[in-house]
Amino acid sequence: MSYELEFVMLKPGVLEKRIVGQIVQRFEQRGLELKAIRVCMLRPLQLESLYREHKDKVFYNSLVQYMGSSKVMLMVWGGLQAVAVTRALVGATDPLQATPGSIRGDFALGMPENIVHASDSVQSATREIKLFFKASEFL
Ligand code: CMP
Repeated sequence: MSYELEFVMLKPGVLEKRIVGQIVQRFEQRGLELKAIRVCMLRPLQLESLYREHKDKVFYNSLVQYMGSSKVMLMVWGGLQAVAVTRALVGATDPLQATPGSIRGDFALGMPENIVHASDSVQSATREIKLFFKASEFL
């Protein structure tokens, strides 16, 4: 088992709904460690890079428009098998398929507003962390 870093983003609307505490609590409760955190608006070039694999999908334009519509919260969580642990906490991409008890299964009903983005592999997490965080933001 290896120590991993996972990139997690709370999507537009989550801060306004005031459910940040409830979501963060699930990561802490599970034993993951918060390594870095920031609130910001995503820039078009960052969104293009984050969602480059979805560029040809029919939902790409609405996804990018939504993701740039309001502030987001960027986090890096660390722990043993952090990527798999996080993906289990977060639940299936489509909230309608997400198990009750998972974050999407408890807080969302549709896409693209599925509450949270989490990197799907250690490789993606490394790339996405570099895209959004400077080394100086890690204590
Ligand atoms: P995320 O984990 O950020 O990764 C890609 C995002 O695309 C996904 O969450 C959803 O927000 C969005 N998405 C994926 N599939 C669809 C779809 N069929 N319709 C609309 N949005 C989608």
